[in-house]
Amino acid sequence: MTAEAGLPDTLRDLPGWAPDAVELADLELLLAGVYRPLTGFLGSFDAAMVIAGGRLADGTPWPVPVTLAVPKELTAHERLVLQDPEGVPLAVLKVAEAWQDPTSQGWRLAGPLEPLRSPAHGPFHSLRRRPDELDPVDGPVLAVAAREPLHRKQLGQIRQVAEQLGAGVLVLPLLSGEHDESLVRALLSVRKELPDGTRIIPVPLPSRGDHERDLLLRAHVAAAYGASHLLAEQEAEGTAVPVVVPEPWAYDADVEIWRPVARIEPDHVQAELTPERLGELLDAGEPVPDWFTPPGVAAELARARPPKHSRGITVFFTGLSGSGKSTVARGLADALVERGGRTVTLLDGDVVRRMLSAGLTFSKADRDLNIRRIGFVAAEITRHGGVAICAPIAPYAATRAEVRRMVAAAGDFILVHVSTPLEECERRDRKGLYAKARAGQIPEFTGISDPYEVPEDADLALDTSAMTPDEAVGRVLELLVAGGWVAPE
Ligand code: ADX
Repeated sequence: MTAEAGLPDTLRDLPGWAPDAVELADLELLLAGVYRPLTGFLGSFDAAMVIAGGRLADGTPWPVPVTLAVPKELTAHERLVLQDPEGVPLAVLKVAEAWQDPTSQGWRLAGPLEPLRSPAHGPFHSLRRRPDELDPVDGPVLAVAAREPLHRKQLGQIRQVAEQLGAGVLVLPLLSGEHDESLVRALLSVRKELPDGTRIIPVPLPSRGDHERDLLLRAHVAAAYGASHLLAEQEAEGTAVPVVVPEPWAYDADVEIWRPVARIEPDHVQAELTPERLGELLDAGEPVPDWFTPPGVAAELARARPPKHSRGITVFFTGLSGSGKSTVARGLADALVERGGRTVTLLDGDVVRRMLSAGLTFSKADRDLNIRRIGFVAAEITRHGGVAICAPIAPYAATRAEVRRMVAAAGDFILVHVSTPLEECERRDRKGLYAKARAGQIPEFTGISDPYEVPEDADLALDTSAMTPDEAVGRVLELLVAGGWVAPE
């Protein structure tokens, strides 16, 4: 069945738009009734009131601006079909107001939504529920909105608070678009450590970056799902349901259980496993201690952050044409293949331009597209645990930063600036391109008639006029060995 098959004839001619991840999450919660009293994206007045004072124009408390950004071309329409990233139509927006955000000057559309079909993108969709699909529960319900897995301490605290309240437990894994499946699996794996009847319902709720407003929104979502209380790390005013802050717990090393600190002899309190230490253990492939977290959670942590020697990594070389990028990148790929234990893909600038980016020019827009394509492929290789070695010029800092972000969501990223000076690249001129560029036969030539933004965030700089190719490869290898990505010989 095609995506359009279910779309009524009257809607086929409407323009379509795929909102970004946060907007799509908002759309799903709006359609599910979780954001009631909101029934659509906010207009300029409501948004301004929410940002200024946490209330809608009619005085109803509402913590975050729920808005929809669109390109200016789409502001001229009365109705718009909102689609998921694969183009499946989800809802029709009846435009009540097109307005310009006062800070960013970007365009926004406001108005009520007419649902077309339930969103079905994202992992563990079968676990998601609309509030009206839930059987009502007698008595209090303690909501636990979790962005991170629950370890033995939190599990103990939840059991304690639930018992004190005589409440059932509702775990809401907060999906943010990164490692969501891992979070949900880790939470499913601890269900048996929680009171009987504990329900787990994933909710797409990326952080807005404001701690207090995020908490208010979580409380609103919890209330919509029938919770009477929300577990939180800090007190908060004006939440939709009361927030309960658990008493501090620690691990009693004497009797080897977690319990409230007040009940532990001070010299038996075991020091916390800090997030830094946990990261070090995972990086080294060492076991996460059982006193800290149940084995199911430990296994998920290790899957989400594999040991460095088997974690995907992108080594991204940037530099002028003729700087030696290809030679060093090729040398690195060969050296890694010779050592074994790693799958390596080389995405050389000139090779990519013959395949993946055939037909692109050297305009800024096409160079950016070229680098984004390389970044997309490198991120996938990295996600699958491989080593991607890229060697384009990549002259623009913003585009390199974009690639770094894409890859970092999937694994690790290293930027190597091949900093050979322009004079040396031009002196070498192996392809004869500099001579042509100087003669005006190649317009927009990097370093001659087009910019190269020198990286300020390089992990390594290699000037190949001052070292042999073998030395340059050796320097990158040293970095990879020192960082734990490659085993020492
Ligand atoms: S990038 O700017 O988009 O990163 P890329 O690495 O793919 O460039 O391609 C650079 C290669 O294309 C150079 O090594 C050179 O051989 C060739 N080339 C052809 N025209 C240009 C140009 N105008 N600027 C830079 N390189 C060019």
